[in-house]
Amino acid sequence: MDTGELLEVMAARRSVRVYRSGQVADGQLQLMFEAARLAPSGANSQPWEFVVTRDRAKMRRVRQIYSDEWKQRKLEDPVHYKGLKKDYVGDVSALVLVCGDARTKRVYLTTRQPADREKLFQANVANAVEHMMLAAASMGFGTVWVSVRKEVEPELRALFKVPRSLRLLWVMPVGRPRAWPKPKPRRKVDDFVHWETYDNSKLRPESQIRSWPKS
Ligand SMILES: Cc1cc2nc3c(=O)[nH]c(=O)nc-3n(C[C@H](O)[C@H](O)[C@H](O)COP(=O)(O)O)c2cc1C
Repeated sequence: MDTGELLEVMAARRSVRVYRSGQVADGQLQLMFEAARLAPSGANSQPWEFVVTRDRAKMRRVRQIYSDEWKQRKLEDPVHYKGLKKDYVGDVSALVLVCGDARTKRVYLTTRQPADREKLFQANVANAVEHMMLAAASMGFGTVWVSVRKEVEPELRALFKVPRSLRLLWVMPVGRPRAWPKPKPRRKVDDFVHWETYDNSKLRPESQIRSWPKS
C-alpha cells in the first residue's frame, strides 16, 4: 500500500451515527483487533482491553442508559444542553467497550507526575481505537467514538462486568452506515504547522476557538 492509499482510508473514515442492519463478521472484527494490537504505546505497555457484544438486549440497555442520561441533562438545562442522543448505540452489528488497565501506569518508570502518566495511558488506548477505526473504514464499516461520562459509567460497568481495576473509557459501535456522512470541516495544514518556532501570528483568538466547530 502506498501513502496515497493510506490517506484514502483515513479520508474515508467518518463518525457514523446512523447504521443499517448487516453483520460485521467475526473475522472482520478480528482484523480490527489485530490493528489495535499493532498500536504504539508508552513503554510498550499495551493497556487496552475490549469487551465486545452482539447481544441486542444488551445494546438496547446501553441505549436506555444513554437516553436516561440525555433526559436528565436536558431536564437540568433545557436551553443550553446540546448533547446528542446516541440512540445508535442500541442497534449496530457490534458494540465494543473500550477499557484500559490503569495499573500499567506503573511501567512508565521515568514518568513521575500523575498527570503525565494519565496522559500516556489515555493516549495509548486512543491509539488503539484509531487503528481499529481505520481498519473498520478500510472494510467499509462505520464507527464512532462515544464518550463514557461519569453519569453512565457505573451502569455500563455493571452490565458488562468490567472489573474495578480497569477504566471504562469509550464505547465504539461498529456497523454498516445507513449513509456515509459528509466530511466534517478540517483546519488547513498551514494553520497548525509551525516551522522551527511557533508562529504567533497563527495563534487563534478566543473568538475563533469558541465559534468552532463550523458544522
Ligand atoms: C475523544 C473523542 C470523543 C468523542 N466523543 C463523541 C461522543 O461522545 N459522541 C459522538 O457522537 N461523537 C464523539 N466523537 C466524534 C467526533 O465528534 C468526531 O470525530 C468529529 O466531529 C469529526 O468528525 P469525523 O469523525 O466524522 O471526521 C468523539 C471523538 C473523539 C476523538
